[in-house]
Amino acid sequence: MKTRITELFGIEHPIIQGGMHYVGFAEMAAAVSNAGGLGIITGLTLGTPEKLADEIAKCKDMTDKPFGVNLTFLPTVNAPDYPGLVKAIIDGGVKAVETAGNNPAQVLPFFKDAGVKVIHKCTSVRHSLKAQSIGCDAVSVDGFECGGHPGEDDIPNMILLPRAADELEIPFVASGGMADGRSLVASLAMGAEGMNMGTRFIATKEAPVHENVKKAIVAASELDTRLVMRPLRNTERVMTNDAVEELLQIEKEKGADLEFEDIIEQVAGVYPRIMTEGDMDAGAWSCGMVAGLIDDIPTCKELIDRIMAEAKEIITQRLARFQGA
Ligand SMILES: Cc1cc2nc3c(=O)[nH]c(=O)nc-3n(C[C@H](O)[C@H](O)[C@H](O)COP(=O)(O)O)c2cc1C
Repeated sequence: MKTRITELFGIEHPIIQGGMHYVGFAEMAAAVSNAGGLGIITGLTLGTPEKLADEIAKCKDMTDKPFGVNLTFLPTVNAPDYPGLVKAIIDGGVKAVETAGNNPAQVLPFFKDAGVKVIHKCTSVRHSLKAQSIGCDAVSVDGFECGGHPGEDDIPNMILLPRAADELEIPFVASGGMADGRSLVASLAMGAEGMNMGTRFIATKEAPVHENVKKAIVAASELDTRLVMRPLRNTERVMTNDAVEELLQIEKEKGADLEFEDIIEQVAGVYPRIMTEGDMDAGAWSCGMVAGLIDDIPTCKELIDRIMAEAKEIITQRLARFQGA
């Protein structure tokens, strides 16, 4: 399938794997890219420019297809070495970057000069327009359904995507709640040029996470996510578990007085314990409502081939039938 997104990134299918903390290692990115999508290494999980450079080199050994790196800008006191990470990306010859969090204006000139294409992840139309105005090549429009940080506007993709289509000139992919061929066709119908998936890609054979994480996603329904850190205006959609329910209880008790320190035990440093060790009650980890649509653990190639075949069937059979009627 050819879209403005496949053309922009030089990929076969309009499917991107969003950056994911402690999931987006070389194994994940290479598996998605080898299957014809755009795999993404998560820069901040590696943390230092040296480790990111090693991970990029490892990924290049595993695929000769294009892949990208996610750079998430966090409101943190001990900021990572962003200039060093940018240099590692450019020196590593990576040609695609997914930015997220804050406005990426400061790093854009470096990527532009190096011919790196930038797709910025946004949870609102106004942020998407801002990304377009500062020179981003594309936007990943992340609806309220998404795993991770949906922002504070709570607009689901059924509204957000057509709104983005009405306003944007640069191409965008639909993100949040995407799982199958139906998601892809619906995204295209609403004006997107492809889709971005997070949670769905964790439940694949190649995802370098503990089997417990994959099984938890398969077992979960669409009712099993919770929104945490809302009072801090840093809302995150996570899978429910004992630690998350405890966190929500603390939020309820503290009300408007909640501070980050009150919930630090449930959110800080929990990713390695969950993703690597499989301790599923260690704390809050991002997961989308789309878990309700996930009931198997295929390879990335099986998943992407299935999505493309299903999309084709919907477009040429199901939708064509309505046209004829
Ligand atoms: C476990 C997990 C970790 C994530 N970590 C990041 C991250 O570090 N940076 C980022 O920009 N997005 C992150 N995301 C968001 C994804 O890139 C993607 O936008 C989101 O998962 C899309 O929604 P979906 O899960 O419904 O597909 C994460 C998502 C998950 C599920």
